Amino acid sequence: MTSGTTDRKIDKLIYLLVKNAMVVVPGPKIATEIGVTRSTVWMYIEKLRALGAEIKGHPASGYQLQKLPDILVPSLIRPELGENEIGHRIVHYFRTDSTNDVALHLATQGAAHGTVVLAEEQTAGRGRLGRSWYSEKSSGIYTSIILRPPLAPAAAPVLTLLAGVATQQAVSSTTGLPVDIRWPNDLLLNGKKVCGILTEMSAELDRLHAVVLGIGLNVNHREMPPELKEIATSLRMEGRKSYSRAQILVALLKELERKYRLLLDTGSGAIAQAWAAASTYAKGKRICVRSGAGEFLATTAGLDASGALRVRREDGREESLVSGEIVEVK
Ligand code: BTN
Repeated sequence: MTSGTTDRKIDKLIYLLVKNAMVVVPGPKIATEIGVTRSTVWMYIEKLRALGAEIKGHPASGYQLQKLPDILVPSLIRPELGENEIGHRIVHYFRTDSTNDVALHLATQGAAHGTVVLAEEQTAGRGRLGRSWYSEKSSGIYTSIILRPPLAPAAAPVLTLLAGVATQQAVSSTTGLPVDIRWPNDLLLNGKKVCGILTEMSAELDRLHAVVLGIGLNVNHREMPPELKEIATSLRMEGRKSYSRAQILVALLKELERKYRLLLDTGSGAIAQAWAAASTYAKGKRICVRSGAGEFLATTAGLDASGALRVRREDGREESLVSGEIVEVK
């Protein structure tokens, strides 16, 4: 795993610049407040400029923030979350291999429920079924959320649906784009994938230690690499404008908290219901089901209370899918 979370001191510097955006802050004052030398302040300023921040000034005159880049550092996200348990601790990387790997590791070290890992860039982002996840720098939201639900391991799949429906609601409320959910939790825009979710857990037979919800959302990518062009897209490519990743992320963490409480208060049926209301795949969709055992054609027939997808085969037999992959057949 790549070490080196975003230096707390860079985070403090950003906070200081944002708080004092109306004035020029002298270099020595910044150095004292964040506890580094003046030359380190200069190095941090250069790093922020390289990330797209517009900062007027130099060591002799002091610095003034003109424009902040759309980066997801804790000091900018956390104040927006109020009492949210999800996001009370945020671990941010400019670059790491996979936020899911980081989160799984933190979970084994006892990281609390609600810890959020974020990266501007992943060098080895992982997808479902052993695939990789394209994680272009500062274009998407790449996040992994540690949950410690009081549930049996067998009940965990509903958390995957919960993540899908929360992300769908956060994206549609902040962007107004018509996002669909393909079972279990791919988000689609105009038929192409815009978000994927990888749920992993550490558990014993009868006890769930932690669940990691890994969410990859393509936000401001201008284009997709050739091998993904036919099947993947970004919010920007479909909405023809760029979006604030910070705003979407805050909406997502709040929505995850709401849906998580709904699950604990009322059970998985409420999540299955919310999912079914948000997806055109819930009922009456002609699909091809793919699994290790082969593939077959079917029509979707609703979700049961546990979140399994009911499907009717061509010969009329019905069954429940708990995992696997489906694609629409036109
Ligand atoms: C899929 O195959 O659809 C799931 C993709 C999940 C990607 C996200 S990006 C953040 C987190 N870290 C990872 O390595 N994967 C997940």
